[in-house]
Amino acid sequence: MSPLRKLVTVLLTISGLLVITVILIMAMVFNQIFGFDEESPETTDSAPVVKVDSNFVNLWTAPVEWRMMRLEPEEQKLVKYGKELITHTSQYLGPKGSVRNISNGMNCQNCHLNAGSQPWGNNYFAVEANYPKFRERSGAVEDQVKRVNDCFERSLNGQALDSNSTEMKAILAYIKWLGSDVPKKTTPKGAGIFKVKGLKRPTDPIKGQIVYEAKCQSCHQANGEGVLAEDGKSYTYPPLWGKNSYNHGAGLYRISNFAGYVKYNMPLGATYERPQLTDEEAWDLGAYVNSQPRPAKDLSKDWPNIAGKPFDHPFGPYADPFSEEQHKYGPYKPIKDWIAAHKKDKK
Ligand code: HEC
Ligand code: HEC
Repeated sequence: MSPLRKLVTVLLTISGLLVITVILIMAMVFNQIFGFDEESPETTDSAPVVKVDSNFVNLWTAPVEWRMMRLEPEEQKLVKYGKELITHTSQYLGPKGSVRNISNGMNCQNCHLNAGSQPWGNNYFAVEANYPKFRERSGAVEDQVKRVNDCFERSLNGQALDSNSTEMKAILAYIKWLGSDVPKKTTPKGAGIFKVKGLKRPTDPIKGQIVYEAKCQSCHQANGEGVLAEDGKSYTYPPLWGKNSYNHGAGLYRISNFAGYVKYNMPLGATYERPQLTDEEAWDLGAYVNSQPRPAKDLSKDWPNIAGKPFDHPFGPYADPFSEEQHKYGPYKPIKDWIAAHKKDKK
């Protein structure tokens, strides 16, 4: 190698190293300023440390708002009205609603956060791609009208909305829009409610009450009845039990759904990125809240195949030998194991 070439090679190597060092320093400074601190000062002792878990990264999100502009004007109007109905259901369809009076004063959004678009906030991302589908609860293939009306009749303890009404069409148009890019028969990451890992012990309403008083009561009140807004038409803080809450047949009456919903969404402001409850607290809260009085529903037509009941469905008869008490409060693992073993038997 000529001395000149040698010199050039050395110089190139040195400048290359310099560039890499500068990039590294810049990255470190940037991270100091903008990076996330895993254990931020506001996390309390009882809050779990957020681990990097693939359940919580790159979650599906709703289509950006401006894409609505591309829809036909009529469709766009319908989608917007649908979103409005999900957000402010009670203004239109509640006890003092302007269109019809078929529900209990709650809004769909109370349980389907951010108009059904919040990751792990019981969103609607998987709906358009998966309905019609077979559901064990009805023992039939359900379309979206049936599924939406399930929530009217159970979660909003009300009556079904006519499938030909503008309101039903609007709700379905909005749900369709939310699921625009989801491939058929797939469930995007972060859709619906998170499945919290089960406890070894039964869930405990007494422990749940202590957590409730500390972390929930300020908004949802000691009697669980929530706080009505000033206009008396909807809730500032929705009820968790009592006559204006969801009934016995609702999805949240299953303690696993309740735990999954509150774990990543409550107290208000908590998200999957910043949860505030431990798994135990979430389960025990479910046990406490779902031990309080609430409206009943005739469930005699539900679960025509009793072997299809989920492990935490609190009403017998069951195909397995476990009690209603254990189905309701757990421990669930023996039940899940029994169900899994007997599924294998059948095949
Ligand atoms: C009290 C809480 C609550 C309210 C209020 C509520 N829902 Fe739901 N909804 C649920 C729960 C919980 C589930 C999931 C149930 C399950 O998976 O067993 C659900 C599921 C659904 C689904 C199916 C989602 C899927 O991925 O399969 C649709 C659609 C739906 N709700 C629509 C509505 C509409 C529309 C309203 C308002 C009219 C509404 N819900 C109000 C709790 C609620
Ligand atoms: C700062 C007030 C606040 C606190 C504290 C709070 N919530 Fe909520 N909660 C709300 C609001 C507001 C909504 C409705 C959200 C919406 O409509 O966007 C809600 C909705 C809910 C719902 C679904 C709707 C219903 O009424 O069934 C449940 C369940 C719930 N909260 C449980 C809890 C639990 C359990 C705690 C304690 C860990 C808690 N919340 C703490 C304000 C609060």
